[in-house]
Amino acid sequence: MKKDHGGNVSEISRIYGIDEDRIIDFSASINPLGYPPGLRDAIIKDFDSVLNYPDIDSFDLVSGLSNYHGIGRDCILLGNGSTEFMYWIPMIFKPKRALIVTPAFSEYEKGLGVTGTEVSYFQADEKTGFSIDIDLLCKRMKEGFDIIYFCNPANPTGVLTQKDKLCQVIACAGEVGSLLIVDEAFIDFIEKESVKKEVLRFSNLIVLRSLTKFFGIPGLRLGYIMSDPSCIVKIRENRIPWTVNSLVQKAAVKALFDKDYIRETRQYISAERGFLKNALNEIPGLRAFESAANYLLVFMDSRTGLNSTELRDRLAADGILIRDCSTFHGMGDCYFRVAIKRHEQNMVLSEGLRRRLLR
Ligand SMILES: Cc1ncc(COP(=O)(O)O)c(C=O)c1O
Repeated sequence: MKKDHGGNVSEISRIYGIDEDRIIDFSASINPLGYPPGLRDAIIKDFDSVLNYPDIDSFDLVSGLSNYHGIGRDCILLGNGSTEFMYWIPMIFKPKRALIVTPAFSEYEKGLGVTGTEVSYFQADEKTGFSIDIDLLCKRMKEGFDIIYFCNPANPTGVLTQKDKLCQVIACAGEVGSLLIVDEAFIDFIEKESVKKEVLRFSNLIVLRSLTKFFGIPGLRLGYIMSDPSCIVKIRENRIPWTVNSLVQKAAVKALFDKDYIRETRQYISAERGFLKNALNEIPGLRAFESAANYLLVFMDSRTGLNSTELRDRLAADGILIRDCSTFHGMGDCYFRVAIKRHEQNMVLSEGLRRRLLR
């Protein structure tokens, strides 16, 4: 079974002989309300746009995002998911030494592998619930790294570093001359904590954003960066053209900034996260962490008698996919992550865990 990412529904279906539509995927953290209501119609209506090359600058969508965030068009660059930039940034900036705040998304390190960049880690402390000690991080940054990766809220822990604290890291990166990549793939759930506006003050900051999670479109592929115009130009001029297809450009403009959908998503996730956290904490041997995003990190103690890989495999046989966190740097084999899904699906998860753990 592939280990670096969640969302391997078709692979699990093949291995366990379970129909894809009978599998509940808690391993990828995608909006359980689905994509915005107008998206499908917008795509069907504009289907013939595939007859032309997509707009190479995605002009209309960049304008829409510029209005949405209150940030100039020249500070925004779209890509085929934010992962695209995790490869372009090292290839274009050619960093020699990188620091990744861990545990973290594996693609940062893979992207850095392409350029042979030496990678060091700043590990969030398990004992403090994986909160990041900002003073200690700033001290470490003085060792001199060309590039630093920080995900907020962190994946897989769900820990949110408050904006004022993160601004301290941004200022520190400015002082030591490091390029700072802040991955905000899950910040839409708490937009006010975004550091996007800091790109207007710090030219060494790149904010990564994704429409995959909050807007429920992992298959369409859409992400973007916000940064200083000079940085945007440098990346735009050196990367492959046309990575954002015309369907997603057209549809996203019309459907993605649906205020009702955004409000409902935030309310739903906040309420259901509380429900699922309590349900998991009632299962002996499990402890779910606080989270600011649409997933929960769960610790399994020795009472469960299993490690996270064994638990993942047993639940997979029942058609329930969880994210085994043993492949995240420094996490060990007693953590798993689950997405917040629809209420009835969350009930299936807690019943499935009880069945597998309390025998
Ligand atoms: C923290 C984080 N950042 C970025 C991504 C990638 O998002 P995208 O689909 O926009 O490439 C993921 C996907 O799992 C993620 O977990």
